Formats: sequence, structure tokens, C-alpha cells
Amino acid sequence: MPTMADVARSAGVSVATVSHVLNGTRPVLPATRRAVLDAIDELAYTPNTLARSLVTSRTRSIGLAVSAISNPYFTEILQGVEATALEHGYSLLLADPHDDPRHERTVVQLLHERRVDGLIVAPSADPRELLAYVRRHKVPTVLLDRLVEESATGAPPLDQVCAESTGPTARLVTHLAGLGHRRIGLVAGLGGLSTTGERIAGYRQGLASAGLPHDERLVVHGDSESTGGERATTALLSLAAPPTALVTANNAMTIGALRALRERGLSVPEDIALCCFDDFAWADLFSPRLTAIAQPSRELGAEAVQVLLDRLAEPDRPARTVRLPSAFVHRSSCGCPEEPRQRPGPGERPERAEPSEYRTARKGTVA
Ligand code: HPA
Repeated sequence: MPTMADVARSAGVSVATVSHVLNGTRPVLPATRRAVLDAIDELAYTPNTLARSLVTSRTRSIGLAVSAISNPYFTEILQGVEATALEHGYSLLLADPHDDPRHERTVVQLLHERRVDGLIVAPSADPRELLAYVRRHKVPTVLLDRLVEESATGAPPLDQVCAESTGPTARLVTHLAGLGHRRIGLVAGLGGLSTTGERIAGYRQGLASAGLPHDERLVVHGDSESTGGERATTALLSLAAPPTALVTANNAMTIGALRALRERGLSVPEDIALCCFDDFAWADLFSPRLTAIAQPSRELGAEAVQVLLDRLAEPDRPARTVRLPSAFVHRSSCGCPEEPRQRPGPGERPERAEPSEYRTARKGTVA
């Protein structure tokens, strides 16, 4: 294996100059830089990042632990994390905690043992062991998607990045109420996740602002998976007074709900209206096309990396919670006419908007 000394000899410069070219630590004359790069090419030299890490105590790597990687929401988050990390010269190590608190603690330890510079974690419903570990070992960590409320414990806060959930869910409910629905069911997610809690709060908020009573029987947990969504929808349809409209609290449960409706021979929106949380690539291919809340998933991933890099650069800075806005995407499963409105209202995303649109509207509350 060629070494840095071989490159230096071949280019006729010092090892320090090769190092400055590789690391951008000092300006190097263009001709010298060219000679170094040519020597690197010719010798097929590959920098040994392990050796560099021993000197710098940094690996320029980020550990990402997210469950349900196959879910398009998390896949897009992963794309945002990867692209932004790469832009800043960081590589990724990926782990799937399977939403299991024990496994979560194990994979986080494994990532830490690989000496990642920091972690981005979408915590499980019971993240106590995870939090104890990262605090004990002082691992710079950004929590993603699911917020952790710990103010009562007196523990120092961690950086967090998530999307808005409460207001957008209320918006789905008021939209359905505005179309005349009085019994609106909620297929809620896995208990214990902040996203589930916020979407239930949003559902209640929407009912209250539409002047509708809250009937507990109309909220059934679907465990955030499609089978759970199917089960929850079947339970809602089996009520003595079933809902005339449904709100599903994530993309996987929407698929389950559609299965349950098909099983019963029910058509959307003629027999039952449907609005869902999460927009996904195929949401406008369904018939009818799905009215949905689109989360800025790629942007969430990118923001989490940015917040982590800020933390690495300034370890003592105050912790931040960044919330990015979600958008209402108006289609026709709610029962509105097929043609989408030409002019999107405030907070609405026009049809077929590119994800980059969020960038202009970025940044919610920074607390
Ligand atoms: N959190 C937020 N949104 C989601 C999730 C989740 O775990 N899964 C699918 N959409």
C-alpha cells in the first residue's frame, strides 16, 4: 500500500504539504497541489482514515439509528441525512433498533464503539436506556422525529428535530367537519411516541374547533403498522354508529385502512371519507387520490445533520428543538371534487410540489 511519504517523494514535496492538500488545512500553490493530486492518482494512494482518526480522535462519521427503514418516510429521512452528511465530508453508519428499547440501547452502543462523532436517533416509545447511555458516555446526540419530554427529570435537554403534527392533524379534522362529517374516526399510532400523542391532540383540537363532541370510541390505536391500521379500521367500522370519515395517523396505517375498507366493499369517499397523515410517492396514484399531510422528511434528515454538526462545533451551546412545518396536500379522498384547487391556501402545498419547496418555508419554532 502506498503511503503519504511515497506520495510526497513522487511529487517532490514534504509529507506536511501532502497532508495540507488532503485536509485543506493550509492554502497550497496550484502547481504544487496539482503535483500532489497527480502523484496520488498515479500511485493509487488511499488515505488511511483510521490512522487519521487516531491523531484527531474524530472519525468524521455519524451513527444513524432509525426503525422501520423500509417505511418511505424514514427512507426519505435517510436520504436527507446521507446527502447532507456527505456534503460536509461525513459518512454514515446505519442501524435499525426495530422500535425495541433493548435493541435500541444495543445498537447505539455498537455505533458508539465504532467511535462515530455523533448520533442521530429516532427514539423508541421507551428511550430511557438510550438516553442514560448517551448521557453517561457524553455522546453528541440529536433526537429525530419523536420528541422526548424530560423537563420533570431535571436531565439536561438534548437537541431534537421533528415535524409539526398537532396543527396539521387538526386541519384534516376541520376539513372533514367542513364537508359535513360529524363522526370522524382516528386510526392512531403506537402508544408512547410523541408523534402519536401529538396527532391525537390535533384530532381533539380539530373536533373542538369544529364544535364536535369527542367520542373516545372513535379513536383506535393501530400500532403504526399496516396490519394494526387494518385491525383498527375494522374495529371502527364495527361500531354500532361507525364513523363516516377516517383520519389515519401515518402512511403504513393508511394502507391497512384501505385494505379493511376494500374487505368490506366500502368505497372512498362515497361510503366513507379518508384523510391521512403522510404523503408518499404513490398517494396520488390511489383512486381516489389521497388528501394527506406531507411531512418534510428529507429536510428533517438534513436538519438533524446540521444540528449535530453545530453541536460538534460548539459542544456547550444550549440544546435546541427544531420543528419543521408539514403541508396539507388537498386531493379527493376527503370527498372534494377531483380537480385540485388552482391556488393553494395558506400552509397548503400545491400538487406535485418538489420537496425543495419546503426549504423556502423551513424552520418552525426554535425553542
Ligand atoms: N413518525 C412520524 N411519521 C411517520 C412515522 C413515524 O414513526 N412512520 C410513518 N410516518
